[in-house]
Amino acid sequence: MDNQVIQTLKQRVNIVDVVRRYVALRPASGRHVGLCPFHQEKTASFSVNEAEGFYYCFGCQAGGDVLDFYMRINGLEFKEALKQLAEEAGIELKEFRPDPEFDERQKLKKQCLDMHAQAQEYYRRNLNQVTGDVARGYLRKRGTSPEISTAFGLGASPDDWHGLMNHLVARGFTPEQGVLAGLLSKNEKGNIYDRFRGRLIFPIQNLSGQVIAFGGRIITEGEPKYLNSSDTPIYKKGEHLYGLHQARQAMTRSKRAILTEGYMDVLSLAQFGYADSCGVLGTALTQDQVKRLAGFCSRIDLIFDGDGAGRKAALRSAEMILHQGVGCQVLLMPDGEDVDSLLQTKGREGLEACFEKAADGLDYCLETVRKDFAPREIVAWATGFLGHLSDNALRAYYLPRLADGLGLSEADLRRQGGASGAGFGVSGGHAGGAMRQEARISAGPSGRTRRSVGSDDANDRKFIEFSIQYPDYIPHLAKRGLWNALSTDWGKTLWQRLSLEPFEDVAASLGEEDAKMWRDAIEKHPQLAGEELEEHWDSLCTWIDKQHKEMRRRELMQRLAEYSSSGDVDEVKKVQLAIQALNAPSREEE
Ligand code: GTP
Ligand code: MN
Repeated sequence: MDNQVIQTLKQRVNIVDVVRRYVALRPASGRHVGLCPFHQEKTASFSVNEAEGFYYCFGCQAGGDVLDFYMRINGLEFKEALKQLAEEAGIELKEFRPDPEFDERQKLKKQCLDMHAQAQEYYRRNLNQVTGDVARGYLRKRGTSPEISTAFGLGASPDDWHGLMNHLVARGFTPEQGVLAGLLSKNEKGNIYDRFRGRLIFPIQNLSGQVIAFGGRIITEGEPKYLNSSDTPIYKKGEHLYGLHQARQAMTRSKRAILTEGYMDVLSLAQFGYADSCGVLGTALTQDQVKRLAGFCSRIDLIFDGDGAGRKAALRSAEMILHQGVGCQVLLMPDGEDVDSLLQTKGREGLEACFEKAADGLDYCLETVRKDFAPREIVAWATGFLGHLSDNALRAYYLPRLADGLGLSEADLRRQGGASGAGFGVSGGHAGGAMRQEARISAGPSGRTRRSVGSDDANDRKFIEFSIQYPDYIPHLAKRGLWNALSTDWGKTLWQRLSLEPFEDVAASLGEEDAKMWRDAIEKHPQLAGEELEEHWDSLCTWIDKQHKEMRRRELMQRLAEYSSSGDVDEVKKVQLAIQALNAPSREEE
């Protein structure tokens, strides 16, 4: 249903109109360019393609459609952005949602948010009153500054069974509603009481800053040390990150996120100047959380305990991050320390020393797997890793690196990776984040992957037929980066399967039309051999190389247009040289 709304939204909302509210744009060769709002720059590398409905920044690789832009610039979650933008565009979300429960759910959510706002106010005020003396003393003892305490909206729940309950009832809520919101608890006898008592309160906020849950640390003695909100209509464990609301702008600037495990760790990091930090909130890192972070940064620095459990968690988390095409680093804490204690005792210097010893995420994974896994597990890990990747460009990027790092053969790994949807291309030396963004762009309606030649289909067909006729050549074609040179979805999909799955399996599971094509290809098999085959092979390779070159040329031309319109003479010269270099050898060839 959302999909339908999104499509309508994209049709009705002009991306240039939206971007113009935040960025001064001027037209330039069929596009609009301006200074990128997502990173600091002096020359305009941010461009908006009105016709195709997307934006892209050559400087920081931010890119996406109007919804992406709106989310990112306003720091909103997807649903929120959709709702606001739809409202602006006069699209009634309801008109697409003949869902009677939807209104009910919205009302309930609103009620929960209201109650959380009330509770937040209650806890915050408590911290600053006589009842908060102990909590304030505790914060002082732990070295938390009043500024940080304010910035994170810290509070205190008094040692009182009905303090918050009375507060909520006085504001028109029923105790039952408080239970539903996760703020009050109910015992078997049906008695309702405050969930958080005698604790230091950490409000958990969503991206727009609304309080959606709480964490509470015991101040004096008692169990458990930390108590978190349970799942409610507005909060689901594993979806949110502690401190992301405060950190998101810094992350957009630094393109990095520091991710740690504890509430106090996040506070100390912020206090010591690491504004791009957040915490995982007492669960293992989840895919949702990684995706959320990926919207703000291109690298995540993971901080974990140096013990066995910490190392294991680091491996799982690093994998998950790399799967999304985001880069990462792994910092293991010295024995008995956490970030908070390290910063409080040794200051930034202490942590910087750890940063210096940090391992690159992929290296960390490869080393851990090589050391701790049996050979069979290593192969399984590698195929699993490739299978999890979110797109083909990434797979092409990681395949040789995994093979190399784990001592496996690239061809074997490619064949092992029977997971459907995998495919190959040339692996460039891009950084993870850039790869991700590029892949997103080319998968979108940008037209970059489409070539204007009318014989697209015929070319793809030629390669598919060749692969069917000479399957021995499949790994060689893959190495040459055929995937990137194919232009139809049909060709790409079939090629992915051919390059990954056992040949017979592909043959056995084709649709009617493809099965016919397959039979025809075998039948009209020209039986080339020796020199003839070599010549044919050479011509195929030349064609692939030409396609790659053409793609590169287009990219450079696009940059040239951008830079000439922004008047960046140095960049223009650089790009012109690159284009010349690209053209020179190809003239000789022809
Ligand atoms: P401090 O002792 O206050 O410095 O906390 P810490 O963050 O260093 O504690 P620890 O390393 O033990 O735990 C890390 C994180 O795991 C905490 O910040 C909590 O989010 C979570 N956690 C720790 N203990 C508990 C617990 O007893 N229950 C729950 N639900 N979460 C916990
Ligand atoms: Mn700690």
